Amino acid sequence: MRKSYLVVQLLGLLSAAAPRLSKCGNKLLEPCFCGEQFVDQSTMFVVNCTNTGFTNTDVLLDLPEQTEVLIFSGNHIPSLPSNLFGENAYMSRLKVIDLTNNGIREIRGKTFHHVANVERLVLDHNNISIADEEDKNFHHPRVFSNFVNLQELHLTNAFADNTDSALADDLHDIFVNSNLTKLYKLHLEQNEIKNFKDETVFCDLPDLHDLHLGDNDIPSLNFDVTCLRKLRYLDLEFNNITEFTQRELDALDALATSPGREENLQVEVNGNPLKCESVIRRFYPWTQTSRVQVRHLENLECAQAKYGKKYPVKVMSLIESRHVKISQSLTVLLAVLLCVLISLMVAYFYLKRDQMRSRFSPILEAITRKVQYTTIEAQDV
Ligand SMILES: *[C@@H]1O[C@H](CO)[C@@H](O)[C@H](O)[C@H]1NC(C)=O
Ligand SMILES: *[C@@H]1O[C@H](CO)[C@@H](O)[C@H](O)[C@H]1NC(C)=O
Ligand SMILES: *[C@@H]1O[C@H](CO)[C@@H](O)[C@H](O)[C@H]1NC(C)=O
Ligand SMILES: *[C@@H]1O[C@H](CO)[C@@H](O)[C@H](O)[C@H]1NC(C)=O
Repeated sequence: MRKSYLVVQLLGLLSAAAPRLSKCGNKLLEPCFCGEQFVDQSTMFVVNCTNTGFTNTDVLLDLPEQTEVLIFSGNHIPSLPSNLFGENAYMSRLKVIDLTNNGIREIRGKTFHHVANVERLVLDHNNISIADEEDKNFHHPRVFSNFVNLQELHLTNAFADNTDSALADDLHDIFVNSNLTKLYKLHLEQNEIKNFKDETVFCDLPDLHDLHLGDNDIPSLNFDVTCLRKLRYLDLEFNNITEFTQRELDALDALATSPGREENLQVEVNGNPLKCESVIRRFYPWTQTSRVQVRHLENLECAQAKYGKKYPVKVMSLIESRHVKISQSLTVLLAVLLCVLISLMVAYFYLKRDQMRSRFSPILEAITRKVQYTTIEAQDV
């Protein structure tokens, strides 16, 4: 009785482990899930090593050839080695690489090799520093230069909390020195970005449609947007922007009206410490005439200074109260003008009363007579 139970259990264990082993084809990959899965509206071969406790990437040297989606997250990999998938491996089917939350600090220059078909790379929630001060060899690594078909790059909270200039260097290296000509969507939220090393930092991304820069410390539109001919969504929420200059608004207009554009340009600016005075005077009027769509304008707030403190105020209610004030003063003005007009007329008639009497008395008499006749006729009937 007991024996057979054990055998059954063993068989069960074996049968549970067998498909995994065969699908992953590699004992090292045992903690991972390997197999077909429905992802992004299609069935793909997924290798999923989430929270599997790996401290190096050796398991990636022997990935199943048919892998289309690689999820390798929640492990601890301070440094990504050269040739992540092996020197000669060509992962021709690989479309998605997700390396979220691995404590990655360093990416070597030749980490990603033979990744020509990868369309999405995710490096969210890491501690990356590319411009390594100690090793000058890493200074211009062009780490992403082999991703010639990359469409989405996710770098949310990806960088180490390093200095402003080091981060600006990293961003410069990634976007100016890599050949990301097909990049469509770029996420750079939560990176404490203030400045870019040069204004043209995104200009080598000719196909960029969506640029997500929310949750940073960007103080103004301090990078060139006019070169991003296809841009359709610019997220600048929760940054440190106090106002938009006319020049910046003109740049957005120039982009939105550039010839050959197929899509609208939408921008999002909520959550910035915008100065009310500047919003009322320049930004809000601009939104009413520009081709650029400002999303969630109805919820936009600005910072109004009062008694040395700043209070957030809804822009729309500010605009409405201004309209009310203007129409109130218009009403008062009209009433005053009417009074003046009436007094003038009264004064005029008073002064010219003799003339009036002589001119109007024949008419008055005629009218009185006519009224009398009609009354008599009416009485006759
Ligand atoms: C990968 O595995 C983790 C943990 O098992 C799971 O939460 C996650 O949804 C999986 N990802 C996909 C795309 O299946
Ligand atoms: C990120 O890296 C810095 C050094 O570059 C280190 O001090 C910090 O603890 C790291 N943070 C995490 C979450 O690994
Ligand atoms: C960038 O990629 C294109 C093809 O996608 C290639 O023609 C060009 O030479 C590459 N440029 C650099 C600097 O690698
Ligand atoms: C935001 O801008 C103000 C000046 O307008 C500056 O004093 C402050 O340090 C900035 N904050 C950050 C986090 O950069």
